[in-house]
Formats: sequence, structure tokens, C-alpha cells
Amino acid sequence: MDFKNKIKISPSILSADYAALREDIEKVNKAGADMLHVDVMDGHFVPNISIGPPVVKSIRKATDMFLDCHLMISDPIDYIDSFAKSGADLISFHVESNSPVSETIEKIKAAGVLPALVVKPGTPAEAVFPYLKDIAMVLVMTVEPGFGGQSFMENMLPKIKTIREEANRVNPSLMIQVDGGIVPETAKLCVAAGADVLVSGSYIFGAADIERAVESLR
Ligand code: DX5
Ligand code: ZN
Repeated sequence: MDFKNKIKISPSILSADYAALREDIEKVNKAGADMLHVDVMDGHFVPNISIGPPVVKSIRKATDMFLDCHLMISDPIDYIDSFAKSGADLISFHVESNSPVSETIEKIKAAGVLPALVVKPGTPAEAVFPYLKDIAMVLVMTVEPGFGGQSFMENMLPKIKTIREEANRVNPSLMIQVDGGIVPETAKLCVAAGADVLVSGSYIFGAADIERAVESLR
């Protein structure tokens, strides 16, 4: 993991054209994006279904971009090896899932992948405190997970700040990612609160000029 930018941009392919994924990935790579955010949904943990390991495997063959896989699934521990083998560089899973948190983190590490934890809007910052020293990143959801194109929840900003402060104490290199409703205005608020990885789907893939969209978030 060697990112050139302090503020990292992770375009969410949920808003890409899945039938033209290679081209869409090339576009965001050329635009200088730092990672690729892959949203995995099982229709149980969230009321939507997206993609799984076979698609991650194909993406891995198509690009050398850093693959940031966000698992919105009920039992992430059962799928860690599969996503790792498919080529994920980082796996984030929800603290609200059915899987035992520490065991799942250990399984991700053992597979040679970076572990991250995700909190839904209704989950307090403190839920991830016991694990901060063992993970590479916390993802603070700034919308209810499940769909792209929703409005940013401004009341998540204090949560970002609280996690940043605790991380500065126990794990200063921890990255904080935000996901949902990220556009230049909300990106600015998140960075001011302590976020350093910005996921953006509809804003980036809906832009006429993708390069300018990526830059405007930074
Ligand atoms: C929502 C997903 C997001 C989504 C973000 O459950 O986790 O990654 O694609 O989309 P935008 O940027 O459109 O809010
Ligand atoms: Zn996501």
C-alpha cells in the first residue's frame, strides 16, 4: 500500500456500467483515482443485490488498481477467502454483521489482505474502538447502505471526528473512509472532520469530465 495522495479517491463501481466495466475502470484510473471501491450486496444485509467474487476476479485481471471491497453481506467471515483469492487488496465488513469481529479481522489478515470495519449511520463511533489498533481503515457510512445516489447525512460528521481522535491515540496511520453522497461540498466537510479516503459513485461516473470530477473531490 503506497498511495501518492494524502486524500485518496475511491470511485464506487456501483454507478459504473457493469457491461462496460473495463472502460469505466480505465477512465477513473486515468483520472488519477487511488483505489476502486467494489460494493458487494447480498439482498439480506441490505435490500439490494450487486456483484460477488467472480466479478472481482475479472476486475483483478483487467487492472492493477488497489481493490477496496466493501462487503454489505450478513456473514462476511464465510466469504473472506473467496474475495482474497479473487484479488481484493482491502476488505471492509460491517460491525453490524453476524460475523465475530476479531475473528473476521484475523481471517482477513491471514489471507494477506488489509482489514477494515464499517459502521452504518445508526451505529456509534465507540462500536469500532476496541478494534482500531488491528485494522487499516474505518468506513463511516454517510448514507444507509444499499443504494447509490442518496443524500449525504451531515450528522455523521461528529462520528468521523470522534473516530479520528481515538485513532490518533491508538493507531495514527488508520485511514478513515466515507461513503455515500460524496460531492465536492460534502467531501470538504468530511476531510475537515478527519476523513482521508473518499468514496464516490454517482458523482464521478455521472460526470461528463471524470478527470475533473476526481480532482474536484480532492
Ligand atoms: C452504498 C454504497 C456506496 C454507493 C455510493 O451502499 O456503499 O458505495 O455506491 O454512491 P454515491 O456516491 O452515489 O452516494
Ligand atoms: Zn460502498
